[in-house]
Amino acid sequence: MSEAKRLAGEKAIDYVQDGMIVGVGTGSTVAYFIEALGRIRDRIAGAVSSSEQSTARLLALGIEVLDANAAGPLKLYVDGADECDPHKRLIKGGGAALTREKIIAEASETFVCIVDPAKQVPVLGRFPLPVEVIPMARSLVARRILALTGGQPVWRDGVVTDNGNWILDVHNLSIADPVGMETELNQIPGVVSVGLFARRAADIVIVGGEPPRVL
Ligand code: 5RP
Repeated sequence: MSEAKRLAGEKAIDYVQDGMIVGVGTGSTVAYFIEALGRIRDRIAGAVSSSEQSTARLLALGIEVLDANAAGPLKLYVDGADECDPHKRLIKGGGAALTREKIIAEASETFVCIVDPAKQVPVLGRFPLPVEVIPMARSLVARRILALTGGQPVWRDGVVTDNGNWILDVHNLSIADPVGMETELNQIPGVVSVGLFARRAADIVIVGGEPPRVL
């Protein structure tokens, strides 16, 4: 599958314009995009990064990493996903970077999502839905999610996000109304962010393959 990820990551370079500050996501597919970005680093003004992992990769290639507050609105955000439905709504957060990813997606004019074909699903929910929570609210949020959705929240034990929080992965969901569920789960006190990207879905999806498909 890494060949498909590479092809998707490299295709996303088509959307990078000279002088841009590029929003950069997290994960193994994005790693290929970062690698390709490194080859044109003199053409861009820098990057806003969604994780410590991506920041390290960008800096290692000599790409300047800018603070999101200083960078302001972005033209382009490139990121992967764990699942993608036909409406370009996503589940993200397999790499625990969902909150910063959501912030950059929201700040960006165009969100290009890069995936391998295995990520395409008719209905979101087969991949356990990540939810970032304030540590003291873990148990409360888990009870509320169970009551609201019927899904089984499982604590991703041992994982601490870049923001110092914890992750619940919600299993056994079939998400008929992603916008509704995202809105509802966002209301639970202690939820930092929900790995559903439905209110702000991707604008363009690149599915890796020979040749890559642009949706
Ligand atoms: C990280 C993410 C990633 O985009 C998602 O997990 C996909 O990762 P990969 O490209 O390694 O399959 O949401 O929080």
